[in-house]
Order: sequence, then structure tokens, then C-alpha cells
Amino acid sequence: MRPDPVSINVLALCGSLRATSSNREVIKAAVELQPDCMSIKLYAGQASLPHFNPDLEETTDLPDKVAELRSLVQGADALLIACPEYVHCLPGSFKNLLDWLVGCPDFPGKPVALFQATERHEYLPAMLRDVLTTMSAQVIEDACYELSAHSNKLTTETITRDDRTRASIEGKLKLLVKAVEAGRV
Ligand SMILES: Cc1cc2nc3c(=O)[nH]c(=O)nc-3n(C[C@H](O)[C@H](O)[C@H](O)COP(=O)(O)O)c2cc1C
Repeated sequence: MRPDPVSINVLALCGSLRATSSNREVIKAAVELQPDCMSIKLYAGQASLPHFNPDLEETTDLPDKVAELRSLVQGADALLIACPEYVHCLPGSFKNLLDWLVGCPDFPGKPVALFQATERHEYLPAMLRDVLTTMSAQVIEDACYELSAHSNKLTTETITRDDRTRASIEGKLKLLVKAVEAGRV
């Protein structure tokens, strides 16, 4: 029997709830292009998380959806985040998700790669990095990727069909593998 080649579990978080989100298409392209040793799982529960309230954290029973999110983070070796800019800021539902992770004991030190589909996004890249580093995540700059495009037209197929884009995404995912492996030493 061949050993399971998957050794790096990545939890992908898409900051947009839009059905045809270009940021989600970038994540789906990464799923298609991931190396054999990687398994990217796209988190789908963002819209069902309750509004963050510290009182809810202090009870012994965390809301089920929050417990599920934290357990997925616990099981992930790294996070892949693709998030749009809304009004010079993070989308509210994504900030809500991150607020729930502030108290997640497995979040500090977690390697994070930021993938982003962007037309402009002047403020989001720095702001997201600031939020994540304040939460003590480890943003792996070498593994971050920005896809400049008229993002509403992006699909997984158009992304993966372009040789240069394909090579860039594959390269960035390999650098994420390298960073996770280096952290295991
Ligand atoms: C409510 C709203 C606010 C936005 N604000 C900004 C903004 O401040 N700066 C910017 O560059 N783009 C802004 N955009 C454009 C989105 O960031 C852009 O369309 C992005 O690609 C959407 O991501 P998605 O395709 O993953 O949903 C805004 C879009 C929406 C819906």
C-alpha cells in the first residue's frame, strides 16, 4: 500500500461571500494546482457564523459554528486567505470571522499565505497584514500572491489556463510548503 502523500493541510478562507467571487476562484485555482503533498480545504461557513460577542466566548459552550471553525484552524498547517477590499477595509463578515479567531489558541504562529484578486485595493493588503500580525499569525511573504485583473471576469478556468499565472500560483504554493516544513524543524 502506498503511503498517503498529503502531509500539509491548508484551510482556505475567502473574504467574499459573493457566489461568483473572484477571490474564491483564485482559491479554487490553487486547489487545482496544489502540489501532491498539499490538501487545501475551502471553508464554507463564514456566512453562518454568529456576530462576534466576547460574552459568547466566555461561556463554556462556544457556538457550534465557531467551535467548528476553530477546530478547522487547529487541524490546518497553514491558512490561505483571499480577500477583497470593501470601503478601504476588510469585508465585515470576514472581520467577524477573524474576531472569532483572536481567542483561538491555535491561531498564533499559524503560517498564512495571502492570495488576492485585485483591480486596485490600495488599503487592504497592508490592513490585512496588520490585522493578522496583530493576531500573531505568521504571514509568509514569499508565498503571497496578487493577481491583477478585472476580477469580476476571473474564473478558475481563465486563471489556470494562463501559463504565467499557473506557474506563479504553483510556485507560491511550493514556497508555502517550504515555510511549513521549515517551521516543523
Ligand atoms: C461594498 C463594496 C465596497 C468596495 N470597496 C472597494 C474599495 O474600497 N477599494 C477597492 O479597490 N475595491 C472596492 N470594491 C471592489 C471589490 O473589492 C472588488 O470588486 C473585488 O474584486 C470583489 O471581490 P470578489 O470578486 O472576491 O467578491 C468594493 C466592492 C464592494 C461590493
